[in-house]
Amino acid sequence: MEPLILGIESSCDETAAAVIRGRTLLSDEIISSAALQAQYGGVVPELASRAHTDAIGEVVGRALCSANADMGRLDAVAVTYGAGLLGALLVGLSFAKGLAYSLNIPLIGVDHIRGHLAACYLEDADLKPPFVTLLASGGHTAVLYTKTETEFEILGGTLDDAAGEAFDKVARVLGLPYPGGPHIEALAREGKDVVPMPKMLKGAGGYDFSYSGLKTHVINYAHTMSQRGASWSKADLACSFQHAALDILVRKTVEGALEKGCGTVTAGGGVVANGYLRETLTAACRRAGLRVVLPAKRRCTDNAAMIAAEGLIQFEAGNFSPLTLNACASIPLSRTANR
Ligand code: KG4
Ligand code: ZN
Repeated sequence: MEPLILGIESSCDETAAAVIRGRTLLSDEIISSAALQAQYGGVVPELASRAHTDAIGEVVGRALCSANADMGRLDAVAVTYGAGLLGALLVGLSFAKGLAYSLNIPLIGVDHIRGHLAACYLEDADLKPPFVTLLASGGHTAVLYTKTETEFEILGGTLDDAAGEAFDKVARVLGLPYPGGPHIEALAREGKDVVPMPKMLKGAGGYDFSYSGLKTHVINYAHTMSQRGASWSKADLACSFQHAALDILVRKTVEGALEKGCGTVTAGGGVVANGYLRETLTAACRRAGLRVVLPAKRRCTDNAAMIAAEGLIQFEAGNFSPLTLNACASIPLSRTANR
């Protein structure tokens, strides 16, 4: 029988738990404190830790119950140990340790970004590397060559802001709530791509990206138009920004796949929940004769199913963590890629 794995995620503002049997997702539960955090315009670390403490028992109970899984039959507990907010991570990590200890099963510490990259395996039970992967989250933007389930080559990455970070900063200037991505996407649907956007920074050649120039341009445009009392459309600005920010991701991902000669493209991270990105990436891959496998939208933003999926990969490799495993606030992408 394939392994039964419980995944736990608490790195930011989502308390999440999920159960998988092999690559089959049995349950995927989330209790979010995003609405509470939105009142403060971002995530307040202490509030996040307290919200996780309130929610962790309930969310794990729900995940086991909706999976119809007997706790005593779990083969391992996988949990995010980093990167993220330390206090928030410690809630999930300590809960997972308690479970692993009392059930006498392995603890598997998961790198959150490896979780995002593993989410695609839940979409297709037969998916196997090599492929080229677009990583676009709140903290990272990169194109990776996924050689095996555990080996990645970074083809290029952002020189400054991550794509999600640019969405969040632009949203703030447009008066939209945190996190900005979904709100910009909704506003962009009402607008047109008519505001000229700058070309990406010269230094951002190859598979690199740069979002700071684009972000500053959009912020300056909004301020200047408001100061002049000119009439302008927030929706048009949102739409033009969204296209500029995402078209470059699509172009470089497809170029990477063609250069590496692998027939498949995958993606992961919160920005991949964006409908425009999903449509344009799918269309560009189809034109280039590439197959594309994207995680379901709800498994692009933070969730525990992806942590369980990466847990399965580590379980099969026999990589277990000691009960002394500690939380880690930041993990460089180079370490994520070469562990
Ligand atoms: O992967 P994620 O949930 O957290 C990190 O690990 O960073 O990504 C969160 C980021 C935020 O910056 C958020 O604005 C962005 O993903 N995001 C989106 C969308 N949904 C979430 N960006 C664009 N369009 C969306 N629909
Ligand atoms: Zn994330």
